[in-house]
Amino acid sequence: MLRRESVVITLRNENEVILNLPDDSTKVPDEDVTNQSWRKNLRTRLSIRTQRRKWGGRADTWDRHNDVGMSNVAARAIEMADVRPGMVCVDLGCGGGRLALLLAKSGATVIGVDVSDAMIQRMESQAESEGIGTLTGMVMPIQNLSLPDESVDLVITNYALHHLLDADKAKVVRAAYGWLRPGGQLIIADMMLGRGATAQDRQVIASKIKIMAKKGLPGYWRILKNAGRFLFRVHERPITPEAWSRLFEAAGFVNLESVNVVAEANVVKGNKPGN
Ligand SMILES: C[S@@+](CC[C@H](N)C(=O)[O-])C[C@H]1O[C@@H](n2cnc3c(N)ncnc32)[C@H](O)[C@@H]1O
Repeated sequence: MLRRESVVITLRNENEVILNLPDDSTKVPDEDVTNQSWRKNLRTRLSIRTQRRKWGGRADTWDRHNDVGMSNVAARAIEMADVRPGMVCVDLGCGGGRLALLLAKSGATVIGVDVSDAMIQRMESQAESEGIGTLTGMVMPIQNLSLPDESVDLVITNYALHHLLDADKAKVVRAAYGWLRPGGQLIIADMMLGRGATAQDRQVIASKIKIMAKKGLPGYWRILKNAGRFLFRVHERPITPEAWSRLFEAAGFVNLESVNVVAEANVVKGNKPGN
């Protein structure tokens, strides 16, 4: 596939905005290099590389991984979004386009952002086969995404932000606030739980272990692997719905809603104040 150097978004109001893509999308922008410690930058870079490798290898099979819970969470996120034709929407960590394709079919102009080139290719070829012309893919780590201020109506994401470091989660919520027009919506659908401090956490963890244990030896291996990732926060770094809500509030979002869809996952929504 030809690698794009820029993406043009046609804004609803008047102009077209051209977003230039950096030639090395693993590079953390210079602004961050000065504002953050080198240790934090290094962790962000390593996390981006790991996710790119991991999801590049799963792009062909991901759509077949038809997890009913995850699909329900995605459906709820779309339901909570007030999508109307002509809106400009951004799907962060779009994968094969589970949300992005639906949003585009509703008449929105959609940018799907994913760290994995292979995922974006899948989404784009699906869009092509369905004759959808209002969806653009960007191969870009969410942490490096930069959009013009007040250019977007909806920022949405499904099961992607738990892969980010906590400092990067906060940064993305703040950045989304800047990209949104007054009244715009940020909707985060994701696995949301802590590391076992609350009864709710313990219930979710126990139910996941039970499901995996039923699969016998491969299940026990998954329990071990997931326990390591979860406890040491490697790949999987979920935070609670309350922690997400605090990030929304700190960034300035109002009208916060948090809906528990399946045991492990919530959808948290907020609006940028304004009309
Ligand atoms: C669990 S999949 C979910 C995909 C899609 N949202 C869905 O609902 O099917 C997680 C996705 O997040 C993407 N991802 C993980 N870390 C990322 C990052 N730092 N920047 C951009 N995308 C990322 C992965 O490449 C993968 O496609």
